[in-house]
Amino acid sequence: MTPAEFATRLLDWFDRHGRKDLPWQHPRTPYRVWISEIMLQQTQVATVIPYFERFTARFAHPQDLADAPLDEVLGLWSGLGYYARARNLHLAARQIVERHGGELPADPQTLAALPGIGRSTAGAILSLGFEQPAPILDGNVRRLWCRLYHIDTWPGDSATQRRLWQLSEIHLPGQRAADYTQALMDFGATVCTRTRPRCNECPFEPSCQARKAGIEARLPVPRPK
Ligand code: ADE
Repeated sequence: MTPAEFATRLLDWFDRHGRKDLPWQHPRTPYRVWISEIMLQQTQVATVIPYFERFTARFAHPQDLADAPLDEVLGLWSGLGYYARARNLHLAARQIVERHGGELPADPQTLAALPGIGRSTAGAILSLGFEQPAPILDGNVRRLWCRLYHIDTWPGDSATQRRLWQLSEIHLPGQRAADYTQALMDFGATVCTRTRPRCNECPFEPSCQARKAGIEARLPVPRPK
């Protein structure tokens, strides 16, 4: 299976099974993608939805968030946990207004320099929000590459991280950047799951190196002690 075949098959899977009705997909703007990605970093979709709705109703644009007192931002975050996320959102909104004219910047380095935005979240904002081909590497994607390519070193070590990012880069399709990223997230969440992956529903099963070796449920390997 070539990288191009992978992308085609994943997009085909997405057309049949992907999530297309999440609130941050309608409308899908860079700002709304950013807020949703930060909320989703440590919190499940079902929990995030009502928080996302309230938050974006009160703060519709970076300027609204930048103008608000921190206490109000934290109030709307109350219950989501990991409050550093809310403080960073507020800080980043102020930087977006002061340094970037009130709009999310559309390049990876500038995005990743904002508080709370790492390389993978920057890739999610670029692809989902700006429809630019940009790689992501979250837990779901790490698991998928480790299984398809039988990577049995710890994903946190620097050589393995480089390899995994490279796999995210080479599989990027030239078309449908947003659908492709959403497909990766949905596929990892529903088919290539951490425990008991649904290999019988997987379009990549014939090419999966971990499956061939019968060790799909043991990858990725945990941090060495
Ligand atoms: N987790 C992180 N980002 C997500 C997204 N865009 N959709 C669903 N789950 C996610």
